[in-house]
Amino acid sequence: MNILVINGPNLNLLGRREPGVYGSDSLNEIRNEIINEAKRLNVDVEFFQSNHEGGIIDALHSAMDENDGVVLNAGAYTHYSYAIRDAIAAIKIPVVEVHMSNVDARDEFRHNSVIAPVCCGSISGFGKMSYLLGLRAVKEIAEKRADDKI
Ligand code: DQA
Repeated sequence: MNILVINGPNLNLLGRREPGVYGSDSLNEIRNEIINEAKRLNVDVEFFQSNHEGGIIDALHSAMDENDGVVLNAGAYTHYSYAIRDAIAAIKIPVVEVHMSNVDARDEFRHNSVIAPVCCGSISGFGKMSYLLGLRAVKEIAEKRADDKI
């Protein structure tokens, strides 16, 4: 079981970016916690971060052949990228949407996710724990799909 964790625009600045909203951990520190959780869950985990829509789309396409599932924090692209939505719909592996902040408690434009309908589910508002919950969720879904195919 190999899961890809994708982080979108501005998430490379975690720790320095609006700490009141996103906390004080850097993306690297969060990555280390995800690695520990992955060990506990007995899954392999890979990471990708890009500030560019096309980079995220390319990573999703590659994941179809190389990974069993994706945990995706698409950042602000969540709210308007039909191209990322189409890429998620195109690949056959499960994608779980995650957000550190509670997007429904924030600005109106963050209340809509154009990717949510093509993701397996969404986790929002638990800070870095959103990634750990997302990893657990996508692992269970990918395992169930593998079992169903047997
Ligand atoms: C975010 C929420 C988005 O609205 C925002 O644009 C981000 C981060 C989150 O993790 O809470 O960049 O995805």
